[in-house]
Amino acid sequence: MQKLREILESYQGKREDIIPILQDIQGKYGYLPENALRELSKFTGVSESQIYGIATFYAQFRFTPKGKKHVMVCTGTACHVKGSDQIIDAIQRHLKIKEGDTTPDNEYSLEAVGCIGCCSLAPCAMINEKVISRIKPRQIKRLLPQKS
Ligand code: FES
Repeated sequence: MQKLREILESYQGKREDIIPILQDIQGKYGYLPENALRELSKFTGVSESQIYGIATFYAQFRFTPKGKKHVMVCTGTACHVKGSDQIIDAIQRHLKIKEGDTTPDNEYSLEAVGCIGCCSLAPCAMINEKVISRIKPRQIKRLLPQKS
């Protein structure tokens, strides 16, 4: 938790520091670990439940670590019209996780995101930095192979 200590030391611990601290924690760890939120509560004097309340209000914060392959499905207007909901459903069924979650082996995580900038090729998704355009539900098993 050395990284966390360094983050907290750069703030005074005021209530208005909470969101920037949450952003820094997520920047360092890729998500908001439970024990980091506990330390943030001690540091600011704001209860853990209030901190959770603040963090859950903003879609940018995650409470589970990302998988090795982070799958982002665009749910922007063009992709939504072209069936991004079916893509998310197919991935959830295939990986047996819900949107926002990570598989137990940490291989995959799934996130619905806003426009990723390839609307003319909708529906689109990204697996880490790679864009998959005109994605179809029947491609999911091949795109996201699972260890047997
Ligand atoms: S709406 Fe999906 S890429 Fe723009």
